[in-house]
Amino acid sequence: MIVLILRMLLNEFRNHFTDTLIDDYPKTEITSFFRRLTDFYFQWPPTFMVLNPDYHLNQGELEKLSVALGALEEHKPLQYITNEAYFYGRTFHVNENVLIPRPETEDLVNWVLKDYLEVQHSLDVLELGTGSGCIAVSLAKEQSLFNIDALEVSEMALEVAKKNADFHHAKINFIQKDMKSLEFWNKPLDVIISNPPYIVPQEKKEMLPNVLDHEPHLALFTPEKDPLYFYKKIIVLAQSSLKPSGHLYFEINPNFSETLEAFVKAHTFKDIEVRNDIFGKKRMLKAVKL
Ligand SMILES: C[S@@+](CC[C@H](N)C(=O)[O-])C[C@H]1O[C@@H](n2cnc3c(N)ncnc32)[C@H](O)[C@@H]1O
Repeated sequence: MIVLILRMLLNEFRNHFTDTLIDDYPKTEITSFFRRLTDFYFQWPPTFMVLNPDYHLNQGELEKLSVALGALEEHKPLQYITNEAYFYGRTFHVNENVLIPRPETEDLVNWVLKDYLEVQHSLDVLELGTGSGCIAVSLAKEQSLFNIDALEVSEMALEVAKKNADFHHAKINFIQKDMKSLEFWNKPLDVIISNPPYIVPQEKKEMLPNVLDHEPHLALFTPEKDPLYFYKKIIVLAQSSLKPSGHLYFEINPNFSETLEAFVKAHTFKDIEVRNDIFGKKRMLKAVKL
């Protein structure tokens, strides 16, 4: 709910901001929301609030902060309020058509980059389900020998990915296609990478409202009650298009990591490795084509 406030001191508004959100968020998170918003809207350093508690917020400032507060009350993620998210040292434009880039996905990008640190020749890379383009753009910016194709089914997500690639001057060939039918693909590949939708409907009850009510379900959920749905499609593609010794990288659902590992093992791959995220959950898988 947005409450129109006409005059308020910074300190008073800050208390009102905290009181309004305290039942829904930890105090430290509320403090960081407020800092981020005042930095984003007014470029105030964190010391501004300490030094100017009696600052009179003008109407424009109050309006911006009140609208953001109303959105946070509705559990809208901060990144969708500012339309910005950080990933692998860069700022990405985001909106409700794309998943907010996650820190665990940075670890996947890091894994790929480390594996190809010493490479001397160009490599063909395909990312499936590019969303905001955070994976493709980061790989393109960090490794100039990668020729990157990035596929996505959502036209609105692709618009965001293209905007991010333009902003960062990253050369990526974007393709609007459905990864349910990848038979059209005929280019041999050195690397396939994907963070596909991997949540099954039964997991909805464990999800927080900021994710469930705001992030695109197309990016989150498998289309059927099969947690490996997209992985199976991508593995079929990898079998036909990945060159011998080519690498496959997945972000994975920790609840189904063993099933996926067994599935990959049963196909034409070797050297399967699963890595944990910072919370100790099995979150990434790499496999090498035989
Ligand atoms: C988990 S998100 C990953 C987004 C981004 N790569 C990242 O890591 O933040 C999965 C992406 O796959 C896309 N997607 C969902 N179904 C698809 C399909 N059938 N074909 C292609 N892309 C699809 C979604 O729109 C979403 O952008």
